[in-house]
Amino acid sequence: METDNHGLEILFSREQIAERIRELGAEITRDLAGEKLVMIGVLKGAAPFLADLARAVDIDATFDFVAVSSYGKNNRTSGAVKLIKDLDEPIEGKHVLIVEDILDTGITLTYLRKIFLQHHPRSLRIATLLDKPSRRLEPIQADYVGFTIPNLFVIGFGMDFAERYRNLPDICLMPPEAT
Ligand code: IMP
Ligand code: MG
Repeated sequence: METDNHGLEILFSREQIAERIRELGAEITRDLAGEKLVMIGVLKGAAPFLADLARAVDIDATFDFVAVSSYGKNNRTSGAVKLIKDLDEPIEGKHVLIVEDILDTGITLTYLRKIFLQHHPRSLRIATLLDKPSRRLEPIQADYVGFTIPNLFVIGFGMDFAERYRNLPDICLMPPEAT
């Protein structure tokens, strides 16, 4: 078991994450060659992923951000999602890529996809750093997935437990005794 300097078990190291994001960036660059792209980050967890992914795509891209709140315990989505920060710029007629940290139950991204589609983008894709398909409650898939993981609670590289640990450079396992 590899641990970081806080003794946390590392699931994906910063090097593994960087390599995978380079691959995703190359894939997105191929899929959208010659097009313009609006990358929409879901605050706050997706901020580090968006920053790195944006620099891994060789495309004329702009950024926007949304924030959602979800009601639930243990930092997980319960079912009710509310938009607490909307888009700054219209996305009508544009190629859009939603950038998210984790696709878990799918409730958040199902909600965002629905409201973004109401704005008639030219295309709408989803990139998620992590995917936990075993937890899915809504039928939704991402177009670009960094890593698929089992039902584990992870922290670091943007992901939090009660707002902490977002700045860990590696993706680590939350120690079960701490949750
Ligand atoms: P969903 O609506 O259940 O798909 O919720 C996804 C959101 O739940 C993610 O954007 C995270 O904010 C949060 N989440 C789900 N699993 C984890 C985890 O293992 N660590 C940290 N946050 C998580
Ligand atoms: Mg999140």
